[in-house]
Parts: sequence; C-alpha cells; structure tokens
Amino acid sequence: MDYAIPFNKPFRSGNELDYVSQAVTAGDISGDGAFAKRCSTLLETQFGIKKVLLTPSCTAALEMSIMILGIGAGDEVIMPSFTFVSTANAVVRAGATPVFVDVDCRTLNIDPACIRAAITERTRAIIPVHYAGVGCDMDAIMEIAAEYHLQVIEDAAQGVNARHHSQTLGAIGDLGAYSFHQTKNFSCGEGGALCINDEALIERAEIVREKGTNRSQFLKGTVDKYTWVDVGSSYLPSELTAAFLLGQLEAVETITQQRRECYQRYMELFQGSAEAGKMTLPVIPDACRSNYHLFHILLPTPQQRQGLINRLNEQGIHAVFHYVPLHSSPMGIALNSEQPALPVTESCSERLVRLPIYPGLTTEQQDRIVAEVQAFL
Ligand SMILES: Cc1ncc(COP(=O)(O)O)c(C=O)c1O
Repeated sequence: MDYAIPFNKPFRSGNELDYVSQAVTAGDISGDGAFAKRCSTLLETQFGIKKVLLTPSCTAALEMSIMILGIGAGDEVIMPSFTFVSTANAVVRAGATPVFVDVDCRTLNIDPACIRAAITERTRAIIPVHYAGVGCDMDAIMEIAAEYHLQVIEDAAQGVNARHHSQTLGAIGDLGAYSFHQTKNFSCGEGGALCINDEALIERAEIVREKGTNRSQFLKGTVDKYTWVDVGSSYLPSELTAAFLLGQLEAVETITQQRRECYQRYMELFQGSAEAGKMTLPVIPDACRSNYHLFHILLPTPQQRQGLINRLNEQGIHAVFHYVPLHSSPMGIALNSEQPALPVTESCSERLVRLPIYPGLTTEQQDRIVAEVQAFL
C-alpha cells in the first residue's frame, strides 16, 4: 500500500550513481576494490575503529563475529530479547545458546544488572544492541565483561555515527556490527560492516570473510600462495555496493543533522501529551549522542497502540511497531520453554509505536502526524 507519508524514505546525497559508474568504468567490480577501501578508511578514521571490513549485511557481520570468536556448542551468549532476529540467529547457527535478558525501560537497551544475573560458567559473550541509535550502558557492560572474561560484540546495526561518551558505537567492544540496509540512516540497499577493535582478531576475521582462505594475506604479499586455512564463508560485498555506500558515508553529518531536527521537533510537539501522561517519550542518556535512527513512543496500553497504528495508517501515515520479543517467538519458545518472564520487554514491546523519521520529512508532514496522534489520544 502507498502512504501519503511513508514510514521511511532513503536519502540520496547525489553522488551515489556517479561513484557506481566510476566503479563500472574501472572494470573490476568484485569485493575489496578502491571504493571498499575508501569506505573502510572513512569509517576507521572518522569513528576511531581499528579495522573495518565491509560485509553484505549486519547479519553477516554478526555471524562472522561468532565464527571469529570460536563460539559454538555448549556456549552461552547473553543478549536482549528486544532485538531483531539476526542477533540471536548468529548464535543459534553456531550451535550456541542465546540467553535472553530484560532491558532498561528508559532506553529499551539491555539492562546491565540483568546481564550480571544471567552469567553462568558457560557464558562466553555479551551482545549489547544499541536500540534506536542510543548507546547501551557500555561502562557497566565493559566492566562486567572484564570481570568475567567475556567478549563483547556490539550489535550496532542501528548505531552508526552515534556515541557513548567520546567513543563511537561499534568501536567499544571486541567486535561491532553495522547495518547499511535501506531502512538505516546510511544505506546501500543491503550492506553492513564488521568493526574489529581487538587487533588480535583481524587476521582471523580476514580469513573467515575470504571463504576460510588466507587470500587477504596473499594480496598483501605476506604469503606467497593462498589456500584453505580455516572455516569461512563469502562475506564481501561488490564494488557496486561499496561505491553507492561511499556516497552515503560522505553525507553522514548532513543526514544526522536532518534526523536530529525531526527528532527534536517530535519531542517538543509531544511534550504536553507526555506531561499529561498520555504517552512516554524516548530518553537519550547524558552519556550518549544519538544518531536519531528512530522515533518511538510508548502508549499506556497495547489496545491504544494498535488503535493508533490503525488510525494513522487509515490517514495515509505509515506507522509501525517492533519487535516481537525473541524469547516469546515460536523459535524462542522452541529453544527454551522455561524462559523466565522479561517484564519490561513484554510490557514495552506491546505498547510501542514508531513514527516516520527521515531527512526530507517536512514540518507540514510532521505537524500532520502529531495532530493525528493527538486527536487519537
Ligand atoms: C538490531 C539489529 N540487528 C541486526 C539487524 C540486521 O541488519 P541487516 O539487515 O543489515 O542484516 C537489524 C536490522 O534491522 C537490527 O535492527
């Protein structure tokens, strides 16, 4: 269905097609060419990440992370239940067990106290998910990880160009995973990146990404032939994808600024409704600089949530909800039928509404959205 105000509208900097054309003209459009290098270098230098490898998706970067860390059967990985399926699939595919814990009701990010309570002698890693582009409490999480010798993989699918204190999300844990899917702030249709912050993991990451071969070392001239040395898969995007992505990455500040304006306008316009107890607004803790990936509100009841979404959709405004908590999904129940309740996750996920936010959303459109929400409430 076509909506007068869509939920998302991909941004175009105007350079994307020119870069794709340059890549085609240069002749070689397989992975890790000149445009991939420019994207990786831009992310490494601008975001302070030791090594960035482009991937076909964030899902792929998460799968690679689990392989690189050698997590497998008998291991447990702690993560929020309030996340996208890819966070858990990466762990389950490797034969390990996802352990779902609750989130903080202010940010919907994983609650460090719940992480601590879930640690067993089988725990190997924590996957904090930076919901909405707002950083998790990384001080507490890194402290727990150091205390119990756990590894940290940041699911920063939504967290590109956001910060926790002075550090960019994705640059804090041992590994981080970015998404450049069409729905994200900076996109190339389908795409992602693996951020490697522990230098000791770089060589293995390159091998896993190159089908289990030492081709990267061969191309650097450090070995004289390349061969199969470990388990791996095919995790390189083509130069066409990288060329398009560069056009987006060069515009990160423009995009972020425009999203910030939409976000702050929603916050101002909804202030009265929030003060009247009709909705709960999102929170950005002082330690965080958001990238304003999404704007969500919480309504008092699940019935109101569904009523509001129906009303907005009938009025040509596309509003949506997410996530069905993973612990209560059919797959989650099949994995663990004795999962304890996660009250914050269960309550918030039933009451959450996401409103359109993107560069190009006009103030008139935003006024219409706000007026419809207020009329419903
Ligand atoms: C938290 C989270 N993790 C992982 C993903 C998967 O990203 P991709 O579509 O790039 O594989 C998403 C996508 O929406 C996400 O929101």
